[in-house]
Amino acid sequence: MKPIQNSQLAGLLEDILGDELEAFIEWMSQPLPNSIRINTLKVEKDELIGRLESQGFRLKPLDFYDAAFRVEHEPFPIGKTLEHFLGHFYVQELASMIPPLVLEPKPGEKVLDIAAAPGSKTTQMAQMMENTGVIVANDVNIDRIRALSHNIDRLGVLNTIITEFDGYKFGFLTPNTFDKVLIDAPCSALGTLHRSPEVARWWSWGRVGMLVRTQRALILAGYQALKPGGVMVYSTCTLVPEENEGTVDFLLSRHPEAEVLPFQDFGFKMDEALVGWRRKTYDPKVKAARRLYPHRNKTEGFFIAKIRKPT
Ligand SMILES: C[S@@+](CC[C@H](N)C(=O)[O-])C[C@H]1O[C@@H](n2cnc3c(N)ncnc32)[C@H](O)[C@@H]1O
Repeated sequence: MKPIQNSQLAGLLEDILGDELEAFIEWMSQPLPNSIRINTLKVEKDELIGRLESQGFRLKPLDFYDAAFRVEHEPFPIGKTLEHFLGHFYVQELASMIPPLVLEPKPGEKVLDIAAAPGSKTTQMAQMMENTGVIVANDVNIDRIRALSHNIDRLGVLNTIITEFDGYKFGFLTPNTFDKVLIDAPCSALGTLHRSPEVARWWSWGRVGMLVRTQRALILAGYQALKPGGVMVYSTCTLVPEENEGTVDFLLSRHPEAEVLPFQDFGFKMDEALVGWRRKTYDPKVKAARRLYPHRNKTEGFFIAKIRKPT
């Protein structure tokens, strides 16, 4: 990544990252090594590793999740293997595997994935649920739903229903229904600048304002769709406080009874969420959410909040 030309973005990153801005830019300028999640719905782990290694791929197991592997050497793109076509694995960034691990969907549960396409986390949750229970995988964008549908078929997922709604509708269509809800929200994607450097061109406070409106509608709807006692994860792949802490703070202003739960760090360097930003002070409960800075973890950037609706 070249020095950031976009002055609005440069100002934001300087304020958030301070002394670490240079380390962030340097990390974001390098290509991110691929990682995969082995799809245990279709294949035994050792069998797949053997098949890929016999073609010259070198894979490193990772402690945080036994299905996760870093691809250390690729003789050709791993997405072009027969095993990928057969759905034996999903090419998925490591940080993107964390929100489902935090949500912990269990076999037999009812799960809503409100912004699901192209399905990396839906298919991971189906694997965690051993293809039982039900996942409602929703998205508003029909082109992205095509990719979601393809991935669900490719990975042999059988417990998932696809819907095409504006996600805010789940608040009144299915109130108090789901054991778990994932809101992997549309966001300004600053944590993905390595693979999407164009983000630095279109990023603006105007775009952030529009995203915040959608994020607020989705987090409210997701909370309304949870059963009492149910748990929701709100995640984004951006660093912008208004989209992260600000959205959780908004939910708490409407539902002061909501709990923000602590969760394990899975061996990553997770920073406490901000309790204040520029002139804004957030509800202190927001602090239990976590920021995953990309340059500190050698991953993409993420924000994750775990929220419970009391019984
Ligand atoms: C970060 S992506 C989701 C990635 C997906 N969870 C995964 O892991 O593969 C955000 C998604 O939100 C969808 N989206 C945007 N606005 C929405 C809305 N109002 N209702 C539902 N989905 C929406 C976008 O089409 C996009 O697919």
